[in-house]
Amino acid sequence: MTGKRQLDIVLFGATGYAGQLVARYLATHAPGGVRIGLAGRSARRLADLRVRLGAAASAWPVLVADSADHESLAALARAARVVATTAGPYHGQGLPLVGACARAGTHYADLAGEVLFIRESIGRFHQVAAGAGARIVHCCGFDSIPSDLGVLLLHRAVRADDAGDLEDTTLVVTALKGGISGGTLASATGQRDQMRASAQLRRAARDPYALSPDRGAEPDLGKQPDAGWVRYDRDLGIWVGPFPLARLNARVVRRSSALQAWAYGPRFRYREVTGYGTNRAAPVKAAALSTAMAAVGGGLAFRPSRALLSRFLPGPGQGPSEKTRREGFFRMEIHGRTSAGAQYLSLVEARADPGYAATAVMLGESALCLALDHDRLPGSAGVLTPATAMGAALARRLTSAGQTLATRRITP
Ligand SMILES: NC(=O)c1ccc[n+]([C@@H]2O[C@H](COP(=O)([O-])OP(=O)(O)OC[C@H]3O[C@@H](n4cnc5c(N)ncnc54)[C@H](OP(=O)(O)O)[C@@H]3O)[C@@H](O)[C@H]2O)c1
Repeated sequence: MTGKRQLDIVLFGATGYAGQLVARYLATHAPGGVRIGLAGRSARRLADLRVRLGAAASAWPVLVADSADHESLAALARAARVVATTAGPYHGQGLPLVGACARAGTHYADLAGEVLFIRESIGRFHQVAAGAGARIVHCCGFDSIPSDLGVLLLHRAVRADDAGDLEDTTLVVTALKGGISGGTLASATGQRDQMRASAQLRRAARDPYALSPDRGAEPDLGKQPDAGWVRYDRDLGIWVGPFPLARLNARVVRRSSALQAWAYGPRFRYREVTGYGTNRAAPVKAAALSTAMAAVGGGLAFRPSRALLSRFLPGPGQGPSEKTRREGFFRMEIHGRTSAGAQYLSLVEARADPGYAATAVMLGESALCLALDHDRLPGSAGVLTPATAMGAALARRLTSAGQTLATRRITP
């Protein structure tokens, strides 16, 4: 990073739904002395937000920038050591800020969940960021921090025991309650539109190694389907169904392994499912919920049904109520089997709405981690993943913030 910076962290998109939650998290949890700025399109709305954040934020400067104004983004990137951004959808408007941060050697964290956007970011800016010493980190929310850090911790436990390499590894969502925001829906439909418009992009996004740093060096492990349908899983001994975030999370986890010289193992196979348990109602519940999710996804894919559905769904700037955020939760188990026959389990959970309350903690702590934990971060720069940019330092922070990330060996 070159030169002195006016701020440690600047939060861009601060006036949006997720942005305001992250701003509140930083106002209540950043250590005294951390210099934070609020950035967005409207000075007046940023100033109003600063008032609502109370005394801790009263001296935070307000910076006006627009994703369409590249000079304003360059100024933002030069002003801070870390830019955290919730200005989405990221596809179509997010890349100029990534580029500005990569060139300025400024660390960057976002909530992107769009595989094609991340893929383009890697292609265009990995080398630039690596050269300038910037850590560009996408997916610093519910997608994909629990998956990415959970598998990293699994791998570390296996290594510490010298128990071989990770092979079949499955994340099972065992409990989940939360809401959705207009910004998330807009991002999801934007990515669907992009894929519908181009067979080439569809193929790219469906490649299990879509985010690989070196596609030709990836192992050939046969089919690695993202979803599958409802079925009884003999290995896990439970009924399982698709998990909608698997498509992104699995690619991020595979990139993390590859960026660490394929450290998880040459036969590392990873998938994510929703778990429905073993009782007699499990297959019925699995089929009902999976069908409902598929129906909403399908409805959002086509413009006429999307227009109808959007009357009942949140719009831009809207999201789950305070009660929904407070009463939400998630619990994930990651089951790993090694080449030596040992079995391990990671548990990742939080008692808060996953996509918003828990995500505000994850992005807020990611920004603090990039700004304050420099000596504890793993080696490299470039377009990284949460595990390879922040790794155990971020896991420690999230644990201190009340989230659970724990790993144990199952077999003796
Ligand atoms: N990965 C996860 O777990 C996770 C969780 C939650 C959200 N997200 C993602 O986070 C993003 C934001 O979601 P949200 O619900 O907060 O959406 P939102 O409420 O609609 O907020 C979007 C933000 O982007 C800003 N923005 C839009 N166009 C801009 C431009 N041209 N220049 C500068 N700023 C611009 C908006 O500014 P104004 O305020 O001026 O309109 C607003 O602050 C979405 O992409 C969503 O998918 C991901």
